[in-house]
Amino acid sequence: MINYTEQIAAKLHQLKETGGYRYFLDVNKSAQHFPNFYFEDVTGVKRKAINWCSNDYLAMSVNEAVIGKLSFVAHRSGAGSGGTRNISGTTNYHRILENTLAKLHQKTASLLFGSAYLANLTALSTLGKILPELVFISDENNHASIIEGNKASGSQKLIFKHNDIIDLEKCLQSLPIDQPKIIVFESVYSMSGTIAPIVDIVLLAKKYQALTYIDEVHAVGLYGEKGGGLTELLHIQQGVDIINGTLAKGFGVLGGYIAGDKTIIDAIRSFGAGFIFTTSLPPAICAAANTSIELLQSNPSIGEQYHQSIQKFREVLIAHAISFHPNQTHITIIPIGDEIICKKISDSLLFEYGIYIQPINYPTVKKGAACLRITLTAKHSQADMVYLAISLQEVLKNISVKQPVKNYKNVLA
Ligand SMILES: Cc1ncc(COP(=O)(O)O)c(C=O)c1O
Repeated sequence: MINYTEQIAAKLHQLKETGGYRYFLDVNKSAQHFPNFYFEDVTGVKRKAINWCSNDYLAMSVNEAVIGKLSFVAHRSGAGSGGTRNISGTTNYHRILENTLAKLHQKTASLLFGSAYLANLTALSTLGKILPELVFISDENNHASIIEGNKASGSQKLIFKHNDIIDLEKCLQSLPIDQPKIIVFESVYSMSGTIAPIVDIVLLAKKYQALTYIDEVHAVGLYGEKGGGLTELLHIQQGVDIINGTLAKGFGVLGGYIAGDKTIIDAIRSFGAGFIFTTSLPPAICAAANTSIELLQSNPSIGEQYHQSIQKFREVLIAHAISFHPNQTHITIIPIGDEIICKKISDSLLFEYGIYIQPINYPTVKKGAACLRITLTAKHSQADMVYLAISLQEVLKNISVKQPVKNYKNVLA
């Protein structure tokens, strides 16, 4: 007899042994008191904590107008769409949102997906199938959804060193000029907060006749006058062929999309299995996401205040001698190194101080490069920042952590 359960359990056991097994915390979110939440500890006692690792950067998930729109449209149109886009699952809310997104990125079309993960997976794998000679040239730190999309395409792939324009050019030079190729990269790298040399990449793409595909998941809503991400901030939207984004982080709702030239978008709409064979987003989600985008565009002060708060937050960390990786984005990385120590710090912060920061371990980051990834949201107060810094200072001292990076400085300005 084949013992399937035993074989599967052995895999789980192996994962636990290597420290890669994931335990989830019930983050029982409070719309009124975000970023505060409650959780139950092992004894069943209800405890309060502050969330310092949410990607709801601008707190749009708890915005009254966004929630109002969601509930209004859900009452009018129902909770779910009830169909794939092709079979009764397209509404005017989907169309309106796709128009908004195309406009946001100055493209002729856009296409909605259940998530940005699915958008990357489907768009990249479909491109590889439509263009069988296509070679993927991918940054080594690209997100799992991009890696899976490259894999599923069945296409050849070349990996260039993170943000290394010289290595990228070597990859391009290794291919014949008439070889179809696509450079795939992110604007803001989620686990380091680094930003890609977008202009240089676009120039190289033109020189070597490559398509470009950028993941702006951690930048949309936050950067650029209209929230179009770093490509908007740098006025280079026209130079990038396909832009991927999410509606779940800066915009606070759910869903993902790609925006680009209408022929490319139409091809992915027509051939992409991950678009065709799945139920479309609920109309209420589309309406809420559209409201969120419009609100951020008509209230630029939300984004401006957020970026000022990031600046203040970094100053608070510096004042408390807490090292972080210098970067120009809103993602603050506290390097720790050892996985077990990192988990210990995170546990101590949660159970002794009521501060929740999920430790980031291998395989999300390289082995021995465990870190705390801190995300400020628009709802964290100055008092929250100071409380975090003091608590972190105490915990690092108690656990005798020597942080790997000593020359912390603020380079946000
Ligand atoms: C760089 C990057 N791309 C894509 C995604 C997927 O986004 P979504 O949560 O909308 O699926 C993530 C998620 O965290 C991400 O970090």
